Amino acid sequence: MSSNIAELEKRRAAAHMGGGQKRIDAQHSKGRLTARERLTILLDEGSFEELDMYVEHNCVDFGMEETKIPGDGVVTGSGTINGRLVYVYSQDFTVFGGSLSERHAQKICKVMDSALKVGAPVIGLNDSGGARIQEGVASLGGYAEVFQRNVLASGVVPQLSLIMGPCAGGAVYSPAMTDFIFMVKDSSYMFVTGPDVVKTVTNEVVTQEELGGAVTHTAKSGVADLALENDIEALLAARDFIDYLPENNQAGVPERPTNDPWDRVEESLDMLIPASAATPYDMHELIRKTVDEGDFFEVQPTHAGNIIIGFGRIEGRTVGIVANQPMVLAGCLDINASKKAGRFVRFCDAFEIPIVTFVDVPGFLPGVSQEHNGIIKHGAKLLFAYAEATVPKITIITRKAYGGAYDVMASKHLRGDLNYAWPTAEIAVMGAKGAVEIIFRSDIGDPDKIAERTKEYEDRFANPFVAASKGFIDEVIMPHSTRRRIALGLRKLRNKQLENPWKKHDNIPL
Ligand code: HXC
Repeated sequence: MSSNIAELEKRRAAAHMGGGQKRIDAQHSKGRLTARERLTILLDEGSFEELDMYVEHNCVDFGMEETKIPGDGVVTGSGTINGRLVYVYSQDFTVFGGSLSERHAQKICKVMDSALKVGAPVIGLNDSGGARIQEGVASLGGYAEVFQRNVLASGVVPQLSLIMGPCAGGAVYSPAMTDFIFMVKDSSYMFVTGPDVVKTVTNEVVTQEELGGAVTHTAKSGVADLALENDIEALLAARDFIDYLPENNQAGVPERPTNDPWDRVEESLDMLIPASAATPYDMHELIRKTVDEGDFFEVQPTHAGNIIIGFGRIEGRTVGIVANQPMVLAGCLDINASKKAGRFVRFCDAFEIPIVTFVDVPGFLPGVSQEHNGIIKHGAKLLFAYAEATVPKITIITRKAYGGAYDVMASKHLRGDLNYAWPTAEIAVMGAKGAVEIIFRSDIGDPDKIAERTKEYEDRFANPFVAASKGFIDEVIMPHSTRRRIALGLRKLRNKQLENPWKKHDNIPL
């Protein structure tokens, strides 16, 4: 018996050493943690239960039969984050560069299948040289098996990817199909083809970091949601983040105790809107003053800053927040903002997370580049997402709600459940200046007349009462009571029942 136990211990110790001390040291010297060290930070202490520790590859080419390392480059299993179950895989760069073999893929698939069976999130820690070159097509097949599961799990259990090292070639498509991607600055990258291929094909010279680093993907491309300073920060951010998410699409939002009174009054919000309609203000202030304890987990903060998305809590329960940001592009909707918020709204809807929308939008961003790059289709994504969403939707118009953007931003007409406006709201087809220049074109040469017409238009439309008189706004509320109104609304809507007509799936404009 004791020799059996000794054998088990020996095998465990061997698996724990991964690719050996030299490679572990090399990993540390790059400022990166090992696959197992990462899991100890991500998961509650002592909660990790490993699966498939002794799995080895089955490759017999290129002398691979001589080099088998238990675990085959990925550590998989389950654990808890603040007591809630999650399934995890963590690629081990010290073993064949974390490259994905057929067996490595099977291990990932097993945790994904388990997560789907019991309804728990999947978190993937990616650090891999891509397809295991020695295995050829077997590895490609392995990737596709993972991709297939990403798709089946989408909208059923939350999927979070942390990119903590290389992630290149077709390998990027598994994270791309998960719900959120966090990257580590200066140490992770994602691209379909690396700098060398780019140089050969297009003659462009670019570094790995510029091409597909954390800053590139969180600011420019919008592929990733958050860039963190190092492994530890990324893993701790993932823990915080998972706390906001439901376990699956039927579990409902998590609830955590809060000392923040549901009816907290924020007098300062009565002064938030500047005297001039052209002066911006920071929408973050309203968000933070509304949610419990000011805790707001923003995603994609550095991409399409003209719209803000993220999670907060009201009365301890998660809400998704979407808000126009007057500080960036005056809060206009453009291609990037529409894609960013559209996908977020769909995530919230899939996981039964109520959506609170703060509106201050002067319209869609005009311009040749916007039109030529498809603002029509991309803008339609956000419209489509809001219109199909059946979760509780509460909308607060703080200032401008102009044109098509008024319709898009969770308006009453798109089945907004509670549509509130502040007294400062202006709900109209367009701003006064533009409107007057069109309908009183013949007066353009006469500044006095134009000023008079503009005043007339403003008096008539620059307020919430025209919309309220038609029932498009349920109530004009005092800014200081915004949190109380939202909390009451969410309570009422907790048992909301609304179903879309049966369909195989919709055809969102892609
Ligand atoms: C097998 C690999 C590997 C791979 C790295 N290694 N990538 N083994 N298959 N794909 C091994 C190395 O041989 C080395 O083994 C160890 O991992 C560490 O690699 P290094 O090159 O020493 O590390 P580093 O200098 O940090 O460079 C990391 C790297 C580089 C940039 C990722 O290894 C690299 O370019 N690898 C190949 C990337 C690639 O082309 N992959 C295939 C992409 S195509 P030893 O024994 O020396 O420690 C693809 C298609 C997916 O992925 C399609 C899905 C549909």
